[in-house]
Parts: sequence; C-alpha cells; structure tokens
Amino acid sequence: MSGFDLLVVGDTNPDVLLAGAPAVPPYGQAETLVASGTLALGGSAAIVAHGAARLGISTALAAQVGRDAAGDFVLDALTSVGVDIAAVTRHPDLPTALTVCLGGPDGDRAILTAPGCLAGFDPAELPRARHVHAASYFLQPSLAARLPELLRAARAAGATTSLDTNHDPSGLWQLAPGLLEVCDYVLPNEAEALALTGAATVDEALKSFADRGVATPVVKRGRHGAAALQEGNTHTARLAPLEPVDTVGAGDSFDAGFLAALLNGEGLEQALAVGCACGALSTQGLGGTAAQPTWDRAVALSLSLSPG
Ligand SMILES: Nc1ncnc2c1ncn2[C@@H]1O[C@H](COP(=O)(O)OP(=O)(O)O)[C@@H](O)[C@H]1O
Ligand SMILES: [Mg+2]
Repeated sequence: MSGFDLLVVGDTNPDVLLAGAPAVPPYGQAETLVASGTLALGGSAAIVAHGAARLGISTALAAQVGRDAAGDFVLDALTSVGVDIAAVTRHPDLPTALTVCLGGPDGDRAILTAPGCLAGFDPAELPRARHVHAASYFLQPSLAARLPELLRAARAAGATTSLDTNHDPSGLWQLAPGLLEVCDYVLPNEAEALALTGAATVDEALKSFADRGVATPVVKRGRHGAAALQEGNTHTARLAPLEPVDTVGAGDSFDAGFLAALLNGEGLEQALAVGCACGALSTQGLGGTAAQPTWDRAVALSLSLSPG
C-alpha cells in the first residue's frame, strides 16, 4: 500500500511544564517561584508521532491547531523530526490547545488543559497509512463521534488500528458503540484500563477489552512495564525500573515504540519490550519528546528485559 507507515490522529499543543510547584499554589495575586519551567511539544498524538518519526517510521499527523504562535511552535517541533503535517488544519478563530503541567511534591502532577480548537477537530480525508493510531479520545468529542467510521474505513483499506484514549476529564469513560470492535490494539495505562472496563484487575481489564472485540488489548503499567492479551495468551514485558526525571509522555512514547516495532515486523513480545524501552527512556528527560530514542537505542534497551 502506498502512503505512510503510521498515521496518528489527535491532539497537539504546547506543554508548559513547571517543576517544584507547591501542592496547592497560593492565590491572591501571589507570585510563587518554582524550580524550573520548560516549553515542550505536547498532546498525546503529537508525542506519539514525534516518537515514531524519531524511531525512523514514516509518520503523518492529522490534527487541528489555531492560527497562533502556539500552533507555529508545535508544527515546527513536528516537522523538525520529519513528521508530515499536511493533514494538520488551522482553525481560523479558535486558539491552539495549551497545557500547563504543575509538577508537585512526590512526583505527582496536576495537568490543566485549555482545549481551544481541539473539541471541534473533525478531520476531513485522512492520508493513507499501514497503521492508524487515534489519541486523546475524550478531549475531542467531534473526532470521537466519527472515530468508529474512520477506523472502519482505514481497516477496509488494509490498515491496522489502535486507540489510546488517555484520561477522561468528565469521569464518564464512555466509548462510542462499535469503536472497540474496529481497534486492533487499545493502549490505555492501568488506571484508564480499569476505568474504561469497570474491572478490578489488569487481567480482568484485558479480558474485558478482548470480549468487547479488541484483537490485542495492551495495558501500560508504569514502572511495572506492560501486559497484553492475544488469542487468549497473556504476554508481559518489564525492564529494570528507572528513576524518572519527568513522566510526561511516557505512555505516548511507549505507544510510538510499540507501533514502530509492529510496523518493522516484530512480534508482540518484542513490540512490548521496545514500547517499554521507549516509555522508560522518555522518563529520563523533561517533557514528552526530549528523551525519545532512536530505533537502535530502543532495541538495545529492549534486550535488557528483567524477569517477571
Ligand atoms: N519509572 C519507570 N521506569 C521504567 N519504565 C517506565 C517508568 N515509568 C513508565 N515507564 C514505561 O512507560 C510506559 C508508560 O508509562 P505509564 O505511566 O504506564 O503510562 P502513561 O504515561 O500513559 O500514564 C510503561 O508501560 C513503562 O514501560
Ligand atoms: Mg497516556
């Protein structure tokens, strides 16, 4: 099939990352000094696309930004690593989404997102690709409503498909009817998997996704690696845990590594291991993309799997 190896559909925005914030920032016009501030490429879809391009995968992003400096910033960051942005549209009036991430005590964080033009993002014709990945389902209701149809069409054209819903700010965790049936892979983290399925354990969540029609559900488990279910068999991968510098984008970098490995012809176990390597390495730099590895680096780390 002609076209890209990977098409990512979803959100892109600048992330403003502040480290060393108090648990509750004081109001009353108070100015509080924090340890550091970083401006980084954000949005789950953009971090996945950036990670895949860094891994050498021919990658396109379909997204919407505004006609503003924030939009220029994210498009520059994407093109600098080779992501094709021909399918990124610019909303004439609404601003690009913007996230402020407050890194508080004990590695916890608060994430404040102004969705801007994200909510109305409704892609027109999508570029062709061998695999289509959709990200940040709950931030983009217009896209969400059309996603079953878009992924069904991609599959009919011969592509495989995946979905990383990420968090649901509404707390409802409702997916459109027919969506899971057209996903070859779902890639939630552990908390998201439990919320989406109502299951009490990762194993139950994997089984629930499979029962609802997902060929290969995957659950990301932070420092514990990742687990997947395929044809009734559970597969896991886990590397030696790293002390994170910043965990923003770990899950998206996992997605990039996992999908890149599958597109490079690797089997499920090795794809999980490459995903874990990319997720782990991403925690070693500030923001989602600064520490994303090349393919050789990711594969080298993926071979250092730890037992269990
Ligand atoms: N401290 C860590 N050490 C090693 N790997 C990690 C660490 N934190 C995250 N990872 C890797 O990154 C992946 C995604 O992280 P996770 O926190 O599960 O997702 P998300 O960022 O979406 O919440 C994990 O599956 C794991 O492979
Ligand atoms: Mg995530």
